[in-house]
Amino acid sequence: MRVGLHELNRVEELLTVVNFDTFELDWKLIYELDDQDIIGIYTNDGTSLVGVVSAVAYSHSPTECSLRDGVINPFGWIGNLVVHPDFRRRGLANLLATSALEHLEIKRRCERVLLDASPMGKHVYDQIGFHDAGFVHVMQLAPSERANFGDPSAEQMATSSMVRIMDDAAMQQVCRLDAEIFGASRHVVLRKWRQLWPHGAVWVPGPDGKPLVYGFTHRRRECNYIGPISVAPCTSAHTAEAVCEVLSHIIRECTTAGAGAIQPIVCQVLEPSPDHPSLKMTSHKINWRKRLETLGFECTESNVRQVYSNHSHLAPGVPSCMVAIASLDLG
Ligand SMILES: CC(C)(COP(=O)(O)OP(=O)(O)OC[C@H]1O[C@@H](n2cnc3c(N)ncnc32)[C@H](O)[C@@H]1OP(=O)(O)O)[C@@H](O)C(=O)NCCC(=O)NCCS
Repeated sequence: MRVGLHELNRVEELLTVVNFDTFELDWKLIYELDDQDIIGIYTNDGTSLVGVVSAVAYSHSPTECSLRDGVINPFGWIGNLVVHPDFRRRGLANLLATSALEHLEIKRRCERVLLDASPMGKHVYDQIGFHDAGFVHVMQLAPSERANFGDPSAEQMATSSMVRIMDDAAMQQVCRLDAEIFGASRHVVLRKWRQLWPHGAVWVPGPDGKPLVYGFTHRRRECNYIGPISVAPCTSAHTAEAVCEVLSHIIRECTTAGAGAIQPIVCQVLEPSPDHPSLKMTSHKINWRKRLETLGFECTESNVRQVYSNHSHLAPGVPSCMVAIASLDLG
């Protein structure tokens, strides 16, 4: 069954049971993208939501609506697959994942479907035909580490002036570049995150004045999330340095912004599988997982990027330009 807007609090409750770090605003955002995007399973009497999954279709460009009849969408994204612990091992996740896949392939005409599977979720997705395409490492910076975020290299980065806060003009350029790299337009998500956290949306111009690197930040209940961070497909001697400056700016922004307890920071880095020809390491060949570890981040879990496709070229966009992904559930 489709989950209605008025039931998003039930979705939140279910995700809290399994310790997913969610935020009602992100669910509203998914709902804004398409009110058919959230699929749920209820108990027979309809009183309890016992399973949920989100299925978002992304279109080629902001003007080409993913829901319009006849539009073929480059890909869909499955996320947030959860079944209440009391209702597991009865095939409910299989049912939810199959419905999400059918919705994206048949109704939304997506050419491929992607997701980032946790070790538990991978059992389910393997069985319905998803293939592995790489890894997503969840890197976390604890608040205590941030207090020590003052080693010379970090200090040096922190004083740089290359990083700029995105204004409307830069945002427009960044959305265009992101669509090229991500393989579809996700301007609705990025604009919302910039609106909610303006100083967490930053970019570094290249020699031609166009964006060389950009990064966004968003907040959920438990943690602050850095991503997407991507680099322009052109190579520049300053690319790696610019990525570090964007990271450094956002970490300081997360430390100083907002009242209350400081939340851990999460940055999810993509590590394409070496056997996958269409996904290669970033052109500047930096292992961002190791680089983040030197800044005090720790890898708390590793998920698997999976694809369901009839195409020989599995990956849309230019994955070699992605340093950090936006989030496990929204790509
Ligand atoms: C992953 C999860 C959604 C599975 O829910 P579920 O309803 O128990 O899964 P299903 O009953 O549909 O199982 C589908 C298949 O996966 C297998 N499977 C499910 N969980 C498994 C596990 N922990 N270990 C091994 N196999 C497992 C089942 O055996 C079944 O295979 P079968 O048909 O051959 O028996 C549930 O465990 C969960 O909510 N986990 C926490 C959140 C999470 O990690 N979600 C995944 C995000 S990608």
